[in-house]
Amino acid sequence: MFSLQYNITFLSLLFAVFSIMSSVSSQPSYIKHYCNPKTETSNPTNEAANATYQSSLTVLLNSLSSKASQNFSFYNDSSNIGIYSLYLCRGDVSNSTCQTCISFATQDITTRCPSYKSAIIWYDQCMLRYSDVNFLGVASKEPQHTWWNTDRNISAPDQLALNALSLLYDLIANVETIDLLYETGVKEVTLSTGPTNSSGLVQCTRDINVSSCRQCLSGLMDEAKKCCESKIGWRVLAPSCNLRYENYSFTAQPPVTPLPPPLPQSIFAGKVYFKARAGGVF
Ligand SMILES: *[C@@H]1O[C@H](CO)[C@@H](O)[C@H](O)[C@H]1NC(C)=O
Ligand SMILES: *[C@@H]1O[C@H](CO)[C@@H](O)[C@H](O)[C@H]1NC(C)=O
Ligand SMILES: *[C@@H]1O[C@H](CO)[C@@H](O)[C@H](O)[C@H]1NC(C)=O
Ligand SMILES: *[C@@H]1O[C@H](CO)[C@@H](O)[C@H](O)[C@H]1NC(C)=O
Ligand SMILES: *[C@@H]1O[C@H](CO)[C@@H](O)[C@H](O)[C@H]1NC(C)=O
Ligand SMILES: *[C@@H]1O[C@H](CO)[C@@H](O)[C@H](O)[C@H]1NC(C)=O
Ligand SMILES: *[C@@H]1O[C@H](CO)[C@@H](O)[C@H](O)[C@H]1NC(C)=O
Ligand SMILES: *[C@@H]1O[C@H](CO)[C@@H](O)[C@H](O)[C@H]1NC(C)=O
Repeated sequence: MFSLQYNITFLSLLFAVFSIMSSVSSQPSYIKHYCNPKTETSNPTNEAANATYQSSLTVLLNSLSSKASQNFSFYNDSSNIGIYSLYLCRGDVSNSTCQTCISFATQDITTRCPSYKSAIIWYDQCMLRYSDVNFLGVASKEPQHTWWNTDRNISAPDQLALNALSLLYDLIANVETIDLLYETGVKEVTLSTGPTNSSGLVQCTRDINVSSCRQCLSGLMDEAKKCCESKIGWRVLAPSCNLRYENYSFTAQPPVTPLPPPLPQSIFAGKVYFKARAGGVF
C-alpha cells in the first residue's frame, strides 16, 4: 500500500517536471521590453490606458495572434479608437514557431506592461509593438537595445571585427533584393587558427520601404561599431529594424523546439509514464 502511494506520488512529480520542461522549452526566448518607450513618434506619458483602451487592445492583440495562425510572418493592424500595432517574426523561423511566438508575446506583453498605452517587446524569434500614436510607416531607431556575448578584449578592430562589419554591410546592401526586408548570410574568414564561418542577419518591419529600412539598419551599424568590434557576437535591436552577428551559423538550425533533456533510463521509462496516464492517475 505504502509503495503504491509512493509510486503514484513519484510519477505525479515526474509528470509535473516533464510538463514544465516541455512548456519552458517551447516558449520564445525573451530579450527585452519597454513599456511606454520614447520613440520617434511618441514621448512617454504617465496617462494610464482606460478600460475602453484596454479592451480594444485585447481585441487587437487577439487579431494579431490569429494572423500569425494564418501564417503571416508580419502584420500591422489598428483599432478604430486609435491603437496601432504590428508584429514581425524572424525571417527564417517556421510558421509554427512564428505562431507560438506571437501567441506568447500577446499574453506576455499585457503581463509585463499592464495598462500602458504603448509597449514593445523582443524575443529571439519575433517582436511585437503597439501604441496610441500612429507609428506605421515611420522608421524608428529608438529605443535601441544592444546585446553582445563574450568580450574578445581587443584594443583595435582586427580581421574578425572587419569581417563582421563587411558581412553586415553586404547584407544591408542586398536587403532590397527580396521584398521581405530580410537578409541573412554566411561568410568564411581565415584566421591563424584556420577557417571559420560567421553568420549575419538584418531585418526590418515591413510597414517601411526599402530606403527607410537601409537607413534604419545603417544607423544601427553606427551603434555596432561603437559597442561591438571587440565582441564575438552581437545584436542591435530597434523598433523598425534589427541586426545580428555571430561566429557560428544561427539561422541554418532546425526550428527551435528542443526536446527535454533525456532522463536517466532507470528513472524515466516512457512506458511507465504512458501507462500511468492511461490508468487515469492524472
Ligand atoms: C478612454 O481612452 C480612449 C482612447 O485613449 C478615449 O478615446 C476615451 O475617451 C477614453 N474614455 C474615457 C471614458 O475616458
Ligand atoms: C500554415 O503552414 C503550415 C505549415 O507550415 C501548414 O500546415 C498550414 O496548413 C498553414 N496554414 C494556413 C492557414 O495556411
Ligand atoms: C508557411 O505558410 C505559407 C502560407 O500558408 C506557406 O506558403 C509556406 O510554405 C509555409 N512555410 C513553411 C516553412 O511551411
Ligand atoms: C499597415 O500599415 C500600412 C503602412 O502604414 C498601411 O498603409 C496599412 O493600412 C496598414 N494596415 C492595416 C491593416 O492597418
Ligand atoms: C577579457 O578580459 C576580462 C577582464 O580582464 C577577463 O575576465 C576575460 O576573461 C577576458 N576575455 C577573454 C575572452 O580573454
Ligand atoms: C562555411 O560554409 C560553407 C558553405 O556552407 C562551407 O562550404 C564551408 O565548408 C564552411 N567552412 C567552414 C570552415 O565550416
Ligand atoms: C520611403 O518612405 C519614406 C518615409 O515615409 C519617404 O520619405 C520616402 O520618400 C520613401 N521612399 C521611397 C523610395 O518610396
Ligand atoms: C567563436 O569564438 C570563440 C571565441 O573566440 C571560439 O572559442 C569558438 O570556437 C568560435 N566558434 C566558431 C564556430 O568559430
